[in-house]
Amino acid sequence: MTNDNELLPVELVIFGAMGDLTWRKLVPALFNLFLDGLMPEKFAIFGVDVKPVGIEEWHKHLLEGVNQFSRRGKARADPWKDFASHLVKCLAGDFNNITTFQNLAKALSSQEKAWDEHAEHIFYLATPPGIVETIVHNLGASHQVSDHKRTRLVFEKPFGHDLDSARTLNHNLLKTLEESQIYRIDHYLGKETVQNILAFRFANALFEPIWDRRYIDHVQITVAEQVGVEHRGGYYDHSGALRDMIQNHLLQILSLVAMEPPAAFNADEIRARKVDVLRAIRPIPVDLLHRYASRGQYGPGWIEGDRVVGYRSEPDVDPGSNTETFAALKLFIDNWRWQDIPFYLRTGKRLPQKLSHAVIQFRPVPHQSFPASANQDWLPNRLEIDIQPDEGIRLHFQAKIPGVDLRLSSQEMRFSYTEAFNTTPPEAYETLLLDAMRGDATLFMRADQVESAWGVIAPVLDVWSSVAPSDFPNYPSGTWGPASAEALIAQDGRRWLQPVFLEPGKSGE
Ligand code: BG6
Repeated sequence: MTNDNELLPVELVIFGAMGDLTWRKLVPALFNLFLDGLMPEKFAIFGVDVKPVGIEEWHKHLLEGVNQFSRRGKARADPWKDFASHLVKCLAGDFNNITTFQNLAKALSSQEKAWDEHAEHIFYLATPPGIVETIVHNLGASHQVSDHKRTRLVFEKPFGHDLDSARTLNHNLLKTLEESQIYRIDHYLGKETVQNILAFRFANALFEPIWDRRYIDHVQITVAEQVGVEHRGGYYDHSGALRDMIQNHLLQILSLVAMEPPAAFNADEIRARKVDVLRAIRPIPVDLLHRYASRGQYGPGWIEGDRVVGYRSEPDVDPGSNTETFAALKLFIDNWRWQDIPFYLRTGKRLPQKLSHAVIQFRPVPHQSFPASANQDWLPNRLEIDIQPDEGIRLHFQAKIPGVDLRLSSQEMRFSYTEAFNTTPPEAYETLLLDAMRGDATLFMRADQVESAWGVIAPVLDVWSSVAPSDFPNYPSGTWGPASAEALIAQDGRRWLQPVFLEPGKSGE
């Protein structure tokens, strides 16, 4: 195992140390970074939780999480033992009580004394959003965040509940912190394929000249989930698909697809170009909302042969809930590059398959010179950026079918991450945790990005919260969402493109 010696010593504090996120995502990611030799030579992980837990019990609980959720599968005993020696302590305490924070400060400083070195401090707030401001306030009151260079705080979503609350939260955090210390996570930005959108667009000369309204007909972004709301009904029932997925993940993907080339690859420049896109999104007209937005809620149905319950029967969900589990939007970006090109976004739970992709549908050729008989399977070019589960890029193009007759068919060129690099990409949380330790904020959201994204969906939130849906549940589990989502795109003479993975030599559609 080698170590990345460029990283300064780090003390990482996880608030919510016994919580689900720590268990499923954070510790498996930290363990994988450790196995890859990417953790700093000196690092110590502290937990803070309201629930008192002894060190052995904490380790045991975290190991179970690693065994279940790590991309590498079950941990081997020796490396885990090494890693666990860095899981120093889980402090129990009330987040409202300053004593908890004073105890934490003592624990951190005694570790620094043992190292005889100052460490960078990363505070990860893996807690319910309601307690976040209190934690930050108490960290400030216990003098733990005043070193702006060495202290960073990582915030999970949801970051606010709407535009006003996000503004207030940003404003309140700035009473204690500098913006440069605030790392707002959108885990989609840590996904390899999402980052690769930048590489694909700006490290290749081929596509950028045609990446605009002259050549592109429209863009579709789909994030489909097969799972239902699982054990998160309590949170989700107050959130819904628009807040939970579109405000963050889908708008971030849209920003990467639509942004202008950055002058340099640094955090501020990239985030500035992305926020330009969000600011240029045309306000959704409230009086024509049905033409721009569709909402749905899953009823009972079938997923891969198993009968599943409807949303209203899920644990911790109000049996009369009107929360949407599916949302689709049509957006326009008012700038030179994208004027009048629709971006269709959709996301939902209990859809037929887990799938995230961005599809760039190019326009047809300007003049069709082939005879009609050649063109039965004809399709304009299409680029599909597969974010998950089969990470890659596929370009659909026309080719002549071998034979004496002139006939064309759609074929695809395919780049697969796994085949090309013979490796599974790191989990998003690995990338993001490492970036937080390195102090690289490129993949984190700045205050203005978060606020602009809330601004985009604000008109829809307003209408949906004031006008109850009359038809919920309106799609059976295991289908692609409500009829209104089909109508949203069909009204423009288009349709949602489901992914087609072509066997070599087979024609598409
Ligand atoms: C989270 C949402 O941000 O993303 C969840 O809160 C959703 O509701 C999850 O299930 C999807 O993430 P992924 O990485 O599985 O696509």
